[in-house]
Parts: sequence; C-alpha cells; structure tokens
Amino acid sequence: MTLWPLSGLRVRAGSIELRPPTDDDLPALAALVPVEAGHDPTLPISGVSTPEEIAGQAVLRQVWRSRAELAPTQWRICLAAYVDGVLVGQQDLKADDFPRRRIVETSSWLGEEHRRQGHGKAMRALALHLAFEGLGAVSVESESAEGNDAALGVTRSLGYSPCGDTYELHDGVVTHMLWSRLTRERWALHKQGYGLAPVEVEGVDGCRRLLGLPPTDPEPANNGKRTIVRQGAPAPA
Ligand SMILES: CC(C)(COP(=O)(O)OP(=O)(O)OC[C@H]1O[C@@H](n2cnc3c(N)ncnc32)[C@H](O)[C@@H]1OP(=O)(O)O)[C@@H](O)C(=O)NCCC(=O)NCCS
Repeated sequence: MTLWPLSGLRVRAGSIELRPPTDDDLPALAALVPVEAGHDPTLPISGVSTPEEIAGQAVLRQVWRSRAELAPTQWRICLAAYVDGVLVGQQDLKADDFPRRRIVETSSWLGEEHRRQGHGKAMRALALHLAFEGLGAVSVESESAEGNDAALGVTRSLGYSPCGDTYELHDGVVTHMLWSRLTRERWALHKQGYGLAPVEVEGVDGCRRLLGLPPTDPEPANNGKRTIVRQGAPAPA
C-alpha cells in the first residue's frame, strides 16, 4: 500500500506536465516564484524580510502545509509545472468538502520569463482536465483581482463565465476580486478549442481514497454527462 499516492500524480499534454513537487524541487520553485503571485496570509512567515524572500518562503510553507493538512474535507494539491522538462511555475487545485460539493478552485503563477507563451492557459487547462475528468468535479472556479488582465485572459480564453465579485483586504488594501466559473457542461463544449495535445492523467485512481472519493465515480450517463448525487439531494430517477 502506498502511504502517499499523491506523489505519483502526473497530468501531461505534449511538452507540458504538472506534478507534485518533491522536496528536491522546492528550492527551484521558491527561486522562481514572482512577488505578485501572492500567498495565503495565514502562513506564518518568519526570519525573512525582502518581498522575494517572503514569496519564496511562502511557497515552501504552502507546499508543506498542503501535504500535512490534506483531508477529504479540505485539500490543496500543489503541482509544479514543467515545459520540456524546465520548471515554469505552479498550478494548484483546492477544494472544501469535495466529496459532496464537487467544486474545485484553482490558482497559478508563472516565472516572469515564462509568460505570454500560452503556458498559463495550458497549465490551467490541465488542471481542468484533472478536476473534471480525473476527480469528477461539477464546476471549477477562479478568483482574480480586477486589473489582473493576464489571469482574467486565461479564464476568458478557457470559456469561464463571470459568477460574482467580492471585496477583500490584501495587505491592508481593499481589492475588488472577480470570480469566474466553468461548469462541467461548458468545459465539455469548450475543451476541444483549448489547443492541447491529448491529455494523459497518471496516478489519479490511487489518490481517490486519500481524497475521500469512492474507488470509481458513477458511470457517465449515455450523453456523457456524469450524474453526481449530492447528499441531501433526491436520488436520480
Ligand atoms: C496569470 C498567468 C499565470 C497567465 O499566464 P500566461 O502564460 O502569461 O498567459 P497565456 O499566455 O496562457 O495567455 C492566456 C490568455 O490571456 C491573454 N493574456 C495573457 N497575459 C495578458 C495580459 N497581460 N493582458 C491581457 N491579456 C493577456 C492572452 O492573450 C491569452 O488570450 P488568448 O488565449 O485569447 O490568446 C501569469 O501572467 C502569471 O503568472 N501572473 C502572475 C501571477 C498571477 O497573477 N496569478 C494569478 C492569480 S489569480
């Protein structure tokens, strides 16, 4: 029995691959992260002072926390993104109570020199494939600050729809956050246009128990749409 099946997870299409970083990968990830990637303000950063050091330590702590605190009720899967074997950035998926809600939220960043080459769109498209095809999500959501045209460009390009907004405090500054959602049905309509090579997902079945999911999801119905039975909802006829 594998104690940590997540380490075998791989999602790839052509030259781009997502996989959980090992501890050996972390120094390179911490050196690449841009300051504007932002980080969870609840991470207890200490002993560093420059914005670059803070961003770097936050990446380490985020990855370690995601491993230590992963549970079916709340998880974050941190994935390092490689293009032709070169580390380019990070693509995370997170969820609360995923076995019942089936909603994933994503976040990502790329090293500055790797932007505007389609990698941001490609790695999010791989995350969508993992969420919908691999894990049986019903929708994937994304939050971007107003004015973050690159992040909003990725969501627009992948077919998300706006689904609301919030005002959040970031470092004492009120920031207008725009939310976008891609449903499973819209993903099925749009995915052919993503321009990805065929997607391969490896090791996801081995992670299902760890994430509190049954060994297999219900068989897709004839029209290819999966029937998700939510707790408290009437059983399908
Ligand atoms: C957000 C980010 C991952 C996007 O990655 P990227 O590789 O530069 O984006 P892509 O090249 O895949 O572009 C995807 C789409 O957005 C558009 N886009 C990208 N950057 C843009 C910009 N600065 N302004 C306007 N549109 C932009 C592209 O034209 C493309 O649209 P198309 O598919 O219609 O041609 C990257 O800019 C980044 O790491 N930013 C810093 C961290 C961050 O803000 N993360 C998001 C937090 S929610």
